[in-house]
Amino acid sequence: MNNPIRAAHQHRREAEWFKTLSGQGLTGERVLEIGSGRGVGVEVILDRLGAGHVTALDVDPEQVERARRRLRGRSPRSFALGTGDAASIEAASGSFDAVVDFGILHHVPRWRDAVAEIGRVLRPGGRLLFEQVPRHVLDTWAFRTFTEHPRADRFEAAEFTAELARVGLHGSGQLRTHVGGMVFVGSAVRPALTTCGGTLKPRSGRWGRIGSPTLDDGARTCHGRCSCRGPSAHAVAASSGSAGKERTKAGSATV
Ligand SMILES: C[S@@+](CC[C@H](N)C(=O)[O-])C[C@H]1O[C@@H](n2cnc3c(N)ncnc32)[C@H](O)[C@@H]1O
Repeated sequence: MNNPIRAAHQHRREAEWFKTLSGQGLTGERVLEIGSGRGVGVEVILDRLGAGHVTALDVDPEQVERARRRLRGRSPRSFALGTGDAASIEAASGSFDAVVDFGILHHVPRWRDAVAEIGRVLRPGGRLLFEQVPRHVLDTWAFRTFTEHPRADRFEAAEFTAELARVGLHGSGQLRTHVGGMVFVGSAVRPALTTCGGTLKPRSGRWGRIGSPTLDDGARTCHGRCSCRGPSAHAVAASSGSAGKERTKAGSATV
């Protein structure tokens, strides 16, 4: 993975995929990159997606050291590197606007724990951008012979998105395949909290069967994707941090 072709691919194609999936990039956002390897992703997230700050972690201290050397010339105020496990992230809940995964979770033995951790550290309204290799590709002779990946409990795209949904990360935009079906990429959002003066209705996401929103406070508050209809409808995207939004609309609102 530490070769110039991979770096060029990240800077050109993957940056474009993530830009498209995120709408306008990640301008000014606080981003966590998991499995940051030698640091190319940090460059892409700052320079091409416009993030304000990147925290990059990798389980392998040698990779962290490589990244440190690669990023030496940059302002230390724009990024932080550290050794850490994506399945047990040392960060406060809701502390990131976005998490970026350049082809990592299919490398992580406890990938389900990592998905839960991503859901935890994203603020309400924050999003995950991901790129993964599905199980049927990892199971090919070429991958088994020339690459190193855990073999147990790998996933197809539908299994991966079901796990995202299970921890409350909802699909946003399309799930796409690239490189002749060898990778799938997508984005998922940790929904904001919706409060509603009218009628709240849980919504399904664009991937079909994704995490069920829950209603409480006498069906006035929704954790998940809901629409709000009624003369006094309003939605509040409750969030911590810089990207908090409040929207008030007479008639209907959706988060
Ligand atoms: C294939 S490399 C990808 C590196 C880089 N993101 C890229 O796209 O070139 C996989 C990286 O994930 C890291 N990794 C594997 N398991 C991890 C875990 N549980 N937590 C954090 N990083 C992990 C590895 O050390 C390695 O640097």
